[in-house]
Amino acid sequence: MAVGIFDSGLGGLTVLDEAVRVLPDVPFVYFADHAHNPYGVRDAEDIYTLTTAAVARLFETGCDLVILACNTASAAALRRMQENWVPKDRRVLGVFVPMIEALTERQWGDSSPPREVEVKHVALFATPATVRSRAFQRELAFRAIGVDVEAQACGGVVDAIEEGDLELAEALVRSHVDALKRKMPDPQAAVLGCTHYPLMENVFREALGPGVAVYSQPKLVAASLSDYLVRHPDMFGPGTEAAFLTTGDPARVSSQATRFLRRRIAFSSA
Ligand code: DGL
Repeated sequence: MAVGIFDSGLGGLTVLDEAVRVLPDVPFVYFADHAHNPYGVRDAEDIYTLTTAAVARLFETGCDLVILACNTASAAALRRMQENWVPKDRRVLGVFVPMIEALTERQWGDSSPPREVEVKHVALFATPATVRSRAFQRELAFRAIGVDVEAQACGGVVDAIEEGDLELAEALVRSHVDALKRKMPDPQAAVLGCTHYPLMENVFREALGPGVAVYSQPKLVAASLSDYLVRHPDMFGPGTEAAFLTTGDPARVSSQATRFLRRRIAFSSA
């Protein structure tokens, strides 16, 4: 009954952790493409090629459903994968929609026409490739009207987190929040549109100040996954073993992951 979770690196572990909390009996297979991380500086073609290779590997491990716990892959590759690549009996889902549904006060799968919502000024923090794709604005426009989005491409943050340089990551987050505030001085809500950023959530919150509602994906995505599996129990794959796979150096990745999540995690070679 395995389910796959994919990210370019460690960020997706923030989603995995919540998914395990909500669905403790499900064996999750986590795949991190450290050999090609970060994705956020790559072009859409490259992201598509890498993401399809990773998801194919997760299918092989017995997962029929794969969550792209990577906004960059969700933004740059998911739609093309769903249209042309995903086999009929498999599913690949992204992490954008649950967050946008929460932001626009919608129940899961509510496809009624776009309408006015409470929030009017939204700050989006994401990787350069996610910002460039405008996928967030596109998905938002399907659901809400009159929402002003200011996007800040947060160069360097993913690399600093992957390197374990949290001081640098913190300084970069503060400077990206300052840059955003110069463009939009009073955002009502801020979206952490990269699964690495929840590891820096306190820094984002502090830099943004108390009046800004911060939307972070792990809990929203885990709740929507749990809901999806209740409605689609056939999407539990035949796999039975949980695993952590990386295309990078398993020893190094295990020690970084253990440090971030404060529990022992052992990666093996993908
Ligand atoms: N966690 C990925 C995301 O959500 C990181 C992207 C990257 O590798 O740059 O976008």
